[in-house]
Amino acid sequence: MQLFDVYPLNQIKISHANGSYVYDENNKRYLDLYGGHAVISIGHTHPHWVNNLKNQLDKVSFYSNSIIIEQQQRLADLLGKVSGKTDYSLFLINSGAEANENALKLASFHTNRKKVISFTGGFHGRTSLAVACTDNPAIIAPINETTNVTFLPFNDINALEDTFKKSGNEIAAVIVEGIQGVGGIRVADVEFLKTIRALCDQYGSVYIADSVQCGYGRTGDFYAHDYAGVDADIYTMAKGMGNGYPIGAISIAPQFKAKHGMLGTTFGGSYLACVAAISVLEVIEKENLLENAKVKGQEIIAKLKTYSQLNDVRGRGLMIGFDPSDEVKDLRNRLLLEFNIFTGNAKPNAIRLLPSLALGDQEINEYFQAMDSILLNA
Ligand SMILES: Cc1ncc(COP(=O)(O)O)c(C=O)c1O
Repeated sequence: MQLFDVYPLNQIKISHANGSYVYDENNKRYLDLYGGHAVISIGHTHPHWVNNLKNQLDKVSFYSNSIIIEQQQRLADLLGKVSGKTDYSLFLINSGAEANENALKLASFHTNRKKVISFTGGFHGRTSLAVACTDNPAIIAPINETTNVTFLPFNDINALEDTFKKSGNEIAAVIVEGIQGVGGIRVADVEFLKTIRALCDQYGSVYIADSVQCGYGRTGDFYAHDYAGVDADIYTMAKGMGNGYPIGAISIAPQFKAKHGMLGTTFGGSYLACVAAISVLEVIEKENLLENAKVKGQEIIAKLKTYSQLNDVRGRGLMIGFDPSDEVKDLRNRLLLEFNIFTGNAKPNAIRLLPSLALGDQEINEYFQAMDSILLNA
């Protein structure tokens, strides 16, 4: 049997990993500034996370959501505390797409409406509703096509106001990333997010903050959207939540009323997934990783801005993007092939940095030595 060939692959096999480094089968060391799509939040194989998962595995790994799984409440308590949303409720699933799928469904149940506003450059996942809200026709199958989703230009307050004026009473939800990830690290303006909040209040629509990539502390705020100083009604999250153990969740404001059977999942909220997510939050608190993400991000952005060949350096915390000019358009490949440094890309030719939130000075120096030797000799 062959693998279904949907991924272009680098010819690298990772045998083990530690912190911000991964090692191949010949023990060649790579600096990981991408964390496998922003997933590695507290560092590869963090000992606290590994030990807790091992201990839990020896006890019990899975039972369905038909019994009390105490770790779910422990996770809810800790997430409420660290995110500053103690009066929100938690629903657990397994991925980012599933988180958005459930958030959109809940918004529709809650408002009894069907229409959703999404934005150009947005990515929300590959399942039916999530992909229908994603601005990429190439991944929307005919069966996913719907007239229920309207795409508006990202950060365009006038377009948003006009659309609400015309059909605000039909809009179930607005779904937006705090910083667009796949779209190339595009930061939502503070006024734009505030306007979404105000219009959702005015028309009884639901503000869904897709925090799958930009959330869980990556920008220095627990949820990137909260930088705007207003709360969302539902926050969706996944990637960094389990540091590589699959888990997703939605954090739901108090006005939503739960009903038995309204949402459901087989695997969501398993013992192992909860233990992984609790361990991540414990490390975020203990190692002060929100502050680390903020400070290290500022340092990196300031230094990146000094290179004349890099355009539009952008982002916040450890979610950073920039566009190499044509003369150094092979920068990402050279970082990987000559300096063993993983970074991410975004169309048309942006580089994305999404390292572990525990990124240290040594790793930053190593990265900038490589950048200097490529860019200062170009
Ligand atoms: C902002 C955002 N939302 C949702 C998703 C989908 O997450 P998953 O791949 O876990 O389904 C992604 C994945 O890249 C994402 O970046």
